[in-house]
Amino acid sequence: MLSKLSVIAGSSSEELARKLSRKIKANLVKSEIKVFPDGESKITLSGNISKRKSIVVQSIYPPVDTNLIQVLSLISKAKEISSEVIVVIPYMGYARQDREFLPGEIVTMKVLGKLFKGAGASKIIAVDIHSMIGFKYFTIKTRNVSAIPDLVQYFKKLGLKNPIVVSPDQGGKDRAKEFAKKFESEYITLEKKRDRKTGKVQIKTKNIEVVGRDLILVDDMISTGGSIIKATQFLKKQKCKRVYVACTHALLMNDAEKKIKKAGVTSIISANTIPGRTSVVDVSNTIAKAII
Ligand code: R5P
Repeated sequence: MLSKLSVIAGSSSEELARKLSRKIKANLVKSEIKVFPDGESKITLSGNISKRKSIVVQSIYPPVDTNLIQVLSLISKAKEISSEVIVVIPYMGYARQDREFLPGEIVTMKVLGKLFKGAGASKIIAVDIHSMIGFKYFTIKTRNVSAIPDLVQYFKKLGLKNPIVVSPDQGGKDRAKEFAKKFESEYITLEKKRDRKTGKVQIKTKNIEVVGRDLILVDDMISTGGSIIKATQFLKKQKCKRVYVACTHALLMNDAEKKIKKAGVTSIISANTIPGRTSVVDVSNTIAKAII
């Protein structure tokens, strides 16, 4: 029997889309991608798209612009058939470009708002979007869901002794606070400074009391690893015990994972918004709850 819902799996989120389709009992539509030598994507869909409601799932991680044009194409096709198109962007690339930090910078999240609407999306669901400011520019419905409860469940099974949750910067304070509340532990926030031109980060915090304790650094994303490395080096100097990292989106560009381990991190645990070795926490249930 044909389901009233269809999940259209973008190439960057195949596995997550498959899990989601099972949870919401939707028909799975797969996409086959061919990227031509000049970089253009050709997408071929297989499966039945529901006339009622489609859910397009595609993360916007590198190659960011390729994955972006692919999701826009999927939305556009879905809208030709379905009366409602919900778009799940597990990792919302461009979300850090949500304001003009330096004069002349273009706020790309404004552009994304127009593109998603123009392609035919009725609603966007993101997981731990970098900041809610980005969604302010969207004129269609938006929703952000948190991977923190799923990450906390994972960490509860690790049996850490007397742990403290640490945010590497002030911007992540609420995230660390939420993690700590669910994890039933204390939390602290470091002060980080990023050079807007070079991207280099520094930890400005002087001293904290973490001697002999296990720490969980909580962040929304790891890109170059710069923030986590600087925070870990600082925490190790404070004579903490082990440092774990809990993050939603592990981009881990280039050799970031190696550098983070070298800085002294015991383990990186991330959600499956971006597939990868560290992405052991499944958020399909959390996304399913936001759809049904
Ligand atoms: C910054 O505000 C974010 O929450 C992350 O801490 C940051 O984007 C991670 O980037 P990177 O790994 O390059 O330091």
